Amino acid sequence: MQDNLITFTQKASTVDYREDMNIVIVGHVDHGKSTIIGRLMADTHVLPDGKLEAIQEQCRRNSKPFEYAFLLDALKDERSQGITIDAARAFFKTEKRNYIILDAPGHVEFLKNMVTGAARAEAALLVIDAKEGIMENSMRHSYLLSMLGVKQIAVLINKMDSVGYDKGVFDSIKESYAHFLSKINVIPTAFIPVSGMQGDNIVTKSVNMPWYEGATVLEQMDLFSSPEKLTSLPLRMPVQDVYKFTLDSDDRRIIAGSIETGTLNVGDEVIFYPSKKRCGVKSIEVFNADSPVTSLEAGYAAGFTMTQQIYVRRGEVVCPADAPAMEVSAGIRANIFWLGREPLKKGCSYTLKLGTAKVRAELKEVKMLLDATNLSQSDAQEVCANMAADCIFTLDTPIAFDTVDFPGTTNRFVLTYNYEIVGGGIITSSVQTGGGNLTHSDSIIDSSQKVLSQKQKGTVLWMTGLSGSGKSTLTQELEKQLALLGVVSYRLDGDNLREGLNRDLDFSPEGRRENIRRAAEVASLFADAGIIVLASFITPTNELRDIARGCLCEKYNEIYVKASIEACKARDPKGLYERAIKDEIPSFTGISAPFEEPQSPDLTVETDIMDIERCINSLLEYLADKKYIF
Ligand code: ADX
Repeated sequence: MQDNLITFTQKASTVDYREDMNIVIVGHVDHGKSTIIGRLMADTHVLPDGKLEAIQEQCRRNSKPFEYAFLLDALKDERSQGITIDAARAFFKTEKRNYIILDAPGHVEFLKNMVTGAARAEAALLVIDAKEGIMENSMRHSYLLSMLGVKQIAVLINKMDSVGYDKGVFDSIKESYAHFLSKINVIPTAFIPVSGMQGDNIVTKSVNMPWYEGATVLEQMDLFSSPEKLTSLPLRMPVQDVYKFTLDSDDRRIIAGSIETGTLNVGDEVIFYPSKKRCGVKSIEVFNADSPVTSLEAGYAAGFTMTQQIYVRRGEVVCPADAPAMEVSAGIRANIFWLGREPLKKGCSYTLKLGTAKVRAELKEVKMLLDATNLSQSDAQEVCANMAADCIFTLDTPIAFDTVDFPGTTNRFVLTYNYEIVGGGIITSSVQTGGGNLTHSDSIIDSSQKVLSQKQKGTVLWMTGLSGSGKSTLTQELEKQLALLGVVSYRLDGDNLREGLNRDLDFSPEGRRENIRRAAEVASLFADAGIIVLASFITPTNELRDIARGCLCEKYNEIYVKASIEACKARDPKGLYERAIKDEIPSFTGISAPFEEPQSPDLTVETDIMDIERCINSLLEYLADKKYIF
């Protein structure tokens, strides 16, 4: 008997409103999985008429004892009578539900679908032979279930007839197996003493084991809880796209995506992960809707406008502001299933896709490896096709995710290599990556942590504006925001350059010319190295800006940081205006030296009108529009 089961689905003549439930069955091939399935099908009368009798008769003629497992083999070749057969699945129904029983280790395709989130099993039957007791394999089976995130498990202690229906055998297996399962955080829903061969406690209560008062296998299946409704979970809406209104003065955006779980309502306060930016939902936009839509639930594609125009982009996830936060990390531990022709190995870079987020991922460590076809275990650090493994990955950018217990799909990802899907996984926890990656933090990123990513093209944002107009404040904040997106930037400004490289220069026209020339040259080198340079220099005249432009050519992006001289004087963060007015600083820009307004800047941010968040948003959007960040 091969380690596979079968499915057969009879054409339904009427519409069936019963709910479907996938149940995985795991167990060693000799422990009687197939017999149990055969028995379940025979005793629930889903077999074609006369099939059971025909096989029993065939066995009798061949002087072979009949086994329920033969039913499955016989049905496998059956292609008539409207029966569809598929390896490793068996189908039957009760009053309550339609069940699909899947042979997990034998059904590689199903495992693949489970780890990628395409399929789900709500419960499992784990079969142990009462005579053999717990074998290493039984440990691995339960490990596989815990890897797949299956929480409802009924342990069937089979072949009770072969141990004289002895309660002591049952109790001792139950006790030691429960102890082992608790170590891997699995709490079995039930232990059932059964005999697949004799039909004890499969569909009907056993007369041979009056000491057992629990449910039969079939009753237990109906007792498993139904999958949680996606609409009753917290909102998860991965951002697919951000559309801008096309009119110049209109800075509204539509956030578009599909609602994976939960509900989105007008008036909700939402938070985007990983950026942690917040806004309110102003309106829900639905194509061709007859009347305004105020609420949409899981399963629908949605677009919404925000009460506040914040910069968010594809890959972030919209969540309720008042619910527990999603995990955000550049290090993940996951149970993965590998499909690639080439093994998963360290030193290779893969693309990890979770929802709409797409990041580069590298294998850091294999914690445990299981061959999914025969469940043999190894401690190799390479994962070959059809193997399941518990691994740690480092990512080039932090992503937002949920962990294995969340019933949605925001804990599942696929891995691609050369545009081919090579694996899938379920995240079990976030992991501190310890260097090598930008970590999610609210503090300014230490320059030693900076690693150039592939998400940017080097350029220079040349911030021109009066002293006190907000150039440094904006570039400091922008640097933080870019780091969260995995983009490396570097700040250059008059204050830091004039302390070192340019300490021989004064504020005379010549001094300023040379200051700008050197600053632009340095910025140019950084940009060539792939860095987004945030250059803050007053650059008070058009002549000076032309020097910078001439030096940087297409790398020059003129950003006018605009604030009235009154606002700058009022801010006066360094007390320089006060001193300049008292004539203590010669040639002070805006007081005793000119400031010419830029003629046609690429972008203007008005710091005395717009708040910092809005200024940063327009800078980020500028970079994204020009494809300097992607
Ligand atoms: S620029 O005019 O040559 O572009 P830069 O941006 O490098 O100026 O330096 C401006 C900073 O130098 C100011 O933020 C201020 O702290 C300081 N500073 C000192 N003296 C002057 C001055 N005379 N004019 C303007 N800024 C001055």
